[in-house]
Amino acid sequence: MDKKNELIEKINALKKEKNAVIMAHYYQSAEIQDIADIVGDSLALAQWAANTKADIMVVCGVHFMGETAKILSPKKKVLVPDKNAGCSLADSCPADEFAKFIQQHPDHIVVSYVNTTAAVKTLTDIVVTSTNARKIIDQLPKDAKIIFAPDRNFGNYLNNVTGRNMVLWNGGCHVHEQFSVEKLIELKRQYPTAKVLAHPECKNSVLQLADVIGSTQALLNYTQQNTATEFLIATESGILHEMQKHSPHKRFIPVPPIDSMHDCNECHYMRLNTLEKLYACLRDETPEITIATDTQKKAIRPILKMLEMSK
Ligand code: 13P
Ligand code: SF4
Repeated sequence: MDKKNELIEKINALKKEKNAVIMAHYYQSAEIQDIADIVGDSLALAQWAANTKADIMVVCGVHFMGETAKILSPKKKVLVPDKNAGCSLADSCPADEFAKFIQQHPDHIVVSYVNTTAAVKTLTDIVVTSTNARKIIDQLPKDAKIIFAPDRNFGNYLNNVTGRNMVLWNGGCHVHEQFSVEKLIELKRQYPTAKVLAHPECKNSVLQLADVIGSTQALLNYTQQNTATEFLIATESGILHEMQKHSPHKRFIPVPPIDSMHDCNECHYMRLNTLEKLYACLRDETPEITIATDTQKKAIRPILKMLEMSK
C-alpha cells in the first residue's frame, strides 16, 4: 500500500475509535475534502458543529472555523490540523480597534461576517456568512443604522443589493483582492460563452464582470444547475475539486491573481492543512481550540441569532 492510502486507513480507523468527525471547507486540498465526513461552506460547517453527536470535531479549514465550532459546542473537543491556519480577513479586524470603531458609531447594529475572531464576535449583534448575509440584513428594520465588518468588498456589495448604507470596516482578504481584472477580461475573450462566478469578497471591478456572485456553496450549486459548460471561477481554487466532481463533463477555469507565477489562487492558510497533519492531530488530539468560558458565552449569542434568522 502506498503512503497516502496507509495514512487514509489510519485516519479512518482513528476516527471510528474516537467517535470523531472530519469537517472540511471547500478550500481544502482535494485529498482532505475526499476523506472528510462533511465538506461545506462556513454556514454548513457551523450548522453541523451545532448539531453533531461526535465527541471530537476535526475542523479542516482556518482558525475562525474551529473557533465557531467550539463556541457552538463548547463541551466537544475541537481539533485543527495546523494552528497557524489563520485568515487575513479576520486578522484585518483586531478586537480592540473594532471596539473603538463601535464606540464611534453609537446606536448601530453590529453585523459581522463569520470570518472574525471569537473576540470580535463578542462585540457583535448578529454574525452572518456569505450564504445568509443578504437574507439577514433584509430582516433588519429599514431605518436601522448598521455597522458591517470586516470585509469592505462584501460590505459594499451588500449595500448595493440591499439598498442599505451600512458603515463598513476597512478590511479585506488577501486572496480575493488579488484577482486580476485584466486577466479575467482576457479569459472572457478566450471563452466567450463561459459564465463568470465570483465570491463577494472580490473587488468591485471583478464583481462587475460576474454572472453570479455568491458563497462557495452558491457558486457550486450554480455550476450544477446552469446549462453552460465553461465557467471562470473567481474564488479560491480548492472549490474546483468539488465542481469538477459533480460536473465531470464541464470545464472550470480559475481566474488568475494579479502578480503570480501560478495560474490559480490558493489561500496559503487553508493549504497549511495536510493529510499528515490531519493524522497527527487525530492521533495526539492536538492542536486543540480552547476558548475562555466568558468569551464563549458572549460569542455564541450572535451566532445563534444568525442560525435562527437564516432558517
Ligand atoms: P464561504 O462561507 O462562502 O465558504 O467563504 C468562506 C471564506 O473564507 C471565503 O474566503
Ligand atoms: Fe480568510 Fe481569504 Fe483564506 Fe477565506 S480565502 S480563509 S477570507 S484568507
